[in-house]
Amino acid sequence: MDQKTWTDVDVYFESKLIKEDKVLEEVSRANLTAGLPPIDVAPNQGKLLHLLARMKKSKNILEIGTLGGYSTIWLARALAEGGRLVTLEYEEKHAEIARKNIIRAGLADSVEIIVGAALNTLPHLLAQGRTFDFIFIDADKPNNPHYLEWALKLSQPGAVIVGDNVVRQGCVTDGGSDDPKIQGVREFIDLLARDPRIDSTAIQTVGSKGYDGFAMGIVKE
Ligand SMILES: C[S@@+](CC[C@H](N)C(=O)[O-])C[C@H]1O[C@@H](n2cnc3c(N)ncnc32)[C@H](O)[C@@H]1O
Repeated sequence: MDQKTWTDVDVYFESKLIKEDKVLEEVSRANLTAGLPPIDVAPNQGKLLHLLARMKKSKNILEIGTLGGYSTIWLARALAEGGRLVTLEYEEKHAEIARKNIIRAGLADSVEIIVGAALNTLPHLLAQGRTFDFIFIDADKPNNPHYLEWALKLSQPGAVIVGDNVVRQGCVTDGGSDDPKIQGVREFIDLLARDPRIDSTAIQTVGSKGYDGFAMGIVKE
């Protein structure tokens, strides 16, 4: 099995199961043209996030790591009536592109982009008494354990927490790795394992974005 097969299978599933979507196609094009790195979720992964948020009937979604807003749009489209999504992004340039994309998708009224290092902006959300029923962690991986701590503080009972890119081509099993991203993901998994507030699993995936995976859990009621 190789990357070509994984990509062909993704293209097949996407052609069957994901309706042609002019807005998301334009968003992907705009992100590439602006020179954003192609590290957004794949269309079938975006749809998975969308379906999970719909299953949850989410009204308050938090995303850590906006990039150009591709996953933001998938998630915001899943919001229940009157729902809101807050997305946190460090780079002003990324946030600016995301802002335009979110307007393009007609979601400006339900999406708020907060610019800054997430570890600086998350405490403001807590101070404002905001809580969330669905949280997607997809920013700088070395900070993953801190993001999980914040996600747990900001979660409503029963909230769903999803963390992306936890397999990293299998390197997650390398405890001696000196890569801070691998160590961040391993600490994130350790915290999921020991924190009594959340019940979780992790899944490895192959596809157009290579070999990786995601972790997800439910915050106990
Ligand atoms: C993997 S990309 C997000 C992709 C996006 N979720 C999607 O699928 O369309 C990670 C993003 O996190 C942002 N980021 C990195 N460090 C951050 C930090 N400390 N606080 C907030 N955002 C950060 C990066 O600038 C980048 O835009």
